[in-house]
Amino acid sequence: MKAGVIGLRMGKSHLIGYKQNPYTQPFGICDIDEDTLKKTKKEFDIPFATTDYKDLLKIKDIEIVSVATPDYYHKQQCVDGLLAGKHVLCEKPLALNIDDCIDIIKAEKKSGKKFMIGQVCRFAPGFVLTKEIIDSGEIGELFFVESEYAHNYRVAEGTGKWRKDKKRKPFIGGGCHAVDLLRWIAGDPVEVFAYSNHRCLDDWPVDDATIAIYRFENDIMGKVFCSIGCVRPYTMRSVFYGTKGTIISDNTSDYILVCSERYFKTKSEYDFARIPVKISSHNVYAEVNYFVDCILSNSPVEMDAIEGTKTVATCIAAVVSSEEKRKVNIKEELFSRFNNL
Ligand SMILES: NC(=O)c1ccc[n+]([C@@H]2O[C@H](COP(=O)([O-])OP(=O)(O)OC[C@H]3O[C@@H](n4cnc5c(N)ncnc54)[C@H](O)[C@@H]3O)[C@@H](O)[C@H]2O)c1
Repeated sequence: MKAGVIGLRMGKSHLIGYKQNPYTQPFGICDIDEDTLKKTKKEFDIPFATTDYKDLLKIKDIEIVSVATPDYYHKQQCVDGLLAGKHVLCEKPLALNIDDCIDIIKAEKKSGKKFMIGQVCRFAPGFVLTKEIIDSGEIGELFFVESEYAHNYRVAEGTGKWRKDKKRKPFIGGGCHAVDLLRWIAGDPVEVFAYSNHRCLDDWPVDDATIAIYRFENDIMGKVFCSIGCVRPYTMRSVFYGTKGTIISDNTSDYILVCSERYFKTKSEYDFARIPVKISSHNVYAEVNYFVDCILSNSPVEMDAIEGTKTVATCIAAVVSSEEKRKVNIKEELFSRFNNL
């Protein structure tokens, strides 16, 4: 299958993904920056390049399109891509508000094409192993889960441009990684209370740190911390407490820590065991491979538009809670808007 990519910074990983997959070939690219477009066309030897994504969508031979542009463009480009008959893989977050997410859900259903939201943490080896261990029952039943997106946008590459915008809340744009991870592992949250402050990035137009306390189904408590101005190396440190054990994992270490009976020295003497994993914080290749498999085998995509919308809604609920200083019932106030679509 021939693939097209719109937006060529994060999109470059998608191009590499389509190049390494035996069933796909990167064929078309789009970027509004002509320099980037020219360089990428040469680097990947791409037959078709354009500054207008609609031209790319007109190419019949292209069957899959990745949308890797700034968040504001996801809605229109995904809807147009699906309705043009393409399978679409979209970078996170799906969109910045529920109305836009709903338009994508409707286009996915109308088109009959496959759609996937690229919540890439679901492919980070440390988190994949964490979920496998939890699903096996080794740490018992979860009762508390936490994750964080701790970044420093003063120094992180490319973060000062379109992200610096009143409409782009860090808890949705970046925090969606941690929120999606907890949803994937612990299920849907029911309600949230959150606090935010603005102490690190003076020149940023929105609060730069948020802490959200969630109550999940099955009586699991959860906490997500998101900061875009903290002074420390980037991390998504996450902890999963079960009734029989605990796991500490992230997407930037070459190990995860597991405390469970399997590793106990004696019944009262135990420590964390270090289980090695590959570091791959942006495992876009695995993401692309999964999507291509779903298309070729015509099987459902786990991370479809509804799933992406649930993660956005869970993030929005925390933003609303911190702004309005109240508990937000996620299911009643947000999920109800798209559950029956
Ligand atoms: N999965 C992850 O961990 C991860 C990491 C970084 C970014 N992202 C997501 O990827 C997306 C892109 O982020 P980025 O960091 O690459 O941004 P960026 O600003 O660094 O790059 C965006 C690229 O898209 C191009 N572009 C902008 N508007 C366009 C348009 N209308 N049509 C075509 N091209 C356009 C720009 O010229 C630029 O080359 C965002 O949604 C972001 O949230 C995901």
